[in-house]
Amino acid sequence: MEINEIDLFWHNYKFFPYEKKFALREIESLLTPKNIEEKGNSITLKFPQNHTLFNKLVYFSHARIEENLLETIQFQYENTLKLHEKAKSKRQNTRYSVHGLHEYKGKFNPQVVKVLYNIFGIKPGDKILDPFCGSGTSLVEAAHSHIDALGTDINPLAVMIANAKIASLNMPWRRLLDLKKSFFEIFDRLKDDIVLSNDTRTQYLRSWFPEDTLIKMEALRLATSSIEEPANSIFLIIVSNLLREYSLQEPSDLRIRRRNSPFPEKPFIAAIENSIDSFVHQLKRFQSDFGIMSSKNTAYNLDIRIFDEKEIKQKESFDFAITSPPYATALPYIDTQRLSLVWLNLINASQIKELESELIGSREFKMKLEQEKWNTNLHKNKLNLPESIHTFCKKLSNSLISSDGFRKKALPSLLYRYFYDMEVAFQSVYNQLKPEKYFALIVGHNHTMIGGKRTEINTPELLTFVGEKIGFQIEEVTKLEAYHRYGLNSSNAVQSESLIVFKK
Ligand SMILES: C[S@@+](CC[C@H](N)C(=O)[O-])C[C@H]1O[C@@H](n2cnc3c(N)ncnc32)[C@H](O)[C@@H]1O
Repeated sequence: MEINEIDLFWHNYKFFPYEKKFALREIESLLTPKNIEEKGNSITLKFPQNHTLFNKLVYFSHARIEENLLETIQFQYENTLKLHEKAKSKRQNTRYSVHGLHEYKGKFNPQVVKVLYNIFGIKPGDKILDPFCGSGTSLVEAAHSHIDALGTDINPLAVMIANAKIASLNMPWRRLLDLKKSFFEIFDRLKDDIVLSNDTRTQYLRSWFPEDTLIKMEALRLATSSIEEPANSIFLIIVSNLLREYSLQEPSDLRIRRRNSPFPEKPFIAAIENSIDSFVHQLKRFQSDFGIMSSKNTAYNLDIRIFDEKEIKQKESFDFAITSPPYATALPYIDTQRLSLVWLNLINASQIKELESELIGSREFKMKLEQEKWNTNLHKNKLNLPESIHTFCKKLSNSLISSDGFRKKALPSLLYRYFYDMEVAFQSVYNQLKPEKYFALIVGHNHTMIGGKRTEINTPELLTFVGEKIGFQIEEVTKLEAYHRYGLNSSNAVQSESLIVFKK
């Protein structure tokens, strides 16, 4: 049936300028109207060709089609809880569905992921790759839209979080609630008999937790071993999310410091019960509206640089790749998550430093020898990086002054190594994409103080040179200005990122 006109209404919160631009692009891509007219708080489309797809739009809450006011799916997602509780939020909700299961630094904004799927026409049944999938935002958004997705991440905690999110989408909330009951019954039986061992893992955890908390943590972990998959992983991830709060580390600090702030008032076990209950409650609301997903999307604990050597890769099989890559001087993911990583037995305490140094963008060299090697690589451009990257890193190196500390002195070679690692990662993605398909990246801009001066590191631009070198075409580079959405003083809160889109 042909429709002459649709009115679209924005969500009830403020938008960044780039979100408004993305909104127009997704309208073009999904609904292909003859004309778009922007009004105050609405947009009118004339003769949209696929008007039934209005419900996939990310940035609109409702559409008026022939006197009927209809909700978008995104509106329902973002308001699952609030609608039922009759309080509509004035903020964009980024923790809907299972997105809020575990904190993870540098998470994607889920709306941006979904809008990119819409803009690039990714459909149910298409296959996407996220080479740095972190906590799995792109995998979850794909699952919502019945898109197949595979993610890789070098951090085993990230992978466990991502897979627990997908498992939750597939798991009936009622079953999870029943298993929660068994989980706490088993915990109650075990908790008084726990004797802490003296192995290196326990010694390590002892240094970071009050003894009574550690005993409870160990009883919880033991209790999950009697619970079926995937509920046990979901419970472990929920506990993991609370560990720092109850540890002797300062929870708010990105670096590892001894705690100054008081412990939370709520007892540890009560907080865990509470977290599980609110997660199950949210899942119940979500599943009552959208059902159970049965998605096979999976994250693999892999270094993307060696993806090509692995069994799971299927050469040239992906229809789209999307990612937010690590920064040039990455966040200390492993460091700040070490309590979870060790408690979950994902790594030994002695491996923390090593894993941290393997992350692309790591701030460390494993050994002094390594630093010297990369310094030579940089000065002779031994790895044949694009000349603009070589020149940039050399310029940084020449700006160093004697008062710059050893970390600063390592920066030029660390950056050179970062761009080389990204080249290897891009090559992996290139090999896996079907011809003519797109690879979208959201990349942050960085800066550093070197030789007493502020120097911009235009990572997005430098990464486009890397992409071009291995054969990608640059389809677009769009700056995403992200003024602090709710801050009063927006001028000094500009965080800028760019969307880069490559085409194979
Ligand atoms: C900005 S985060 C991605 C966050 C993700 N988009 C999300 O929503 O949670 C970058 C990720 O790159 C991962 N990473 C760094 N080096 C890697 C490598 N060589 N192979 C795979 N993943 C890597 C880090 O562990 C981190 O999770």
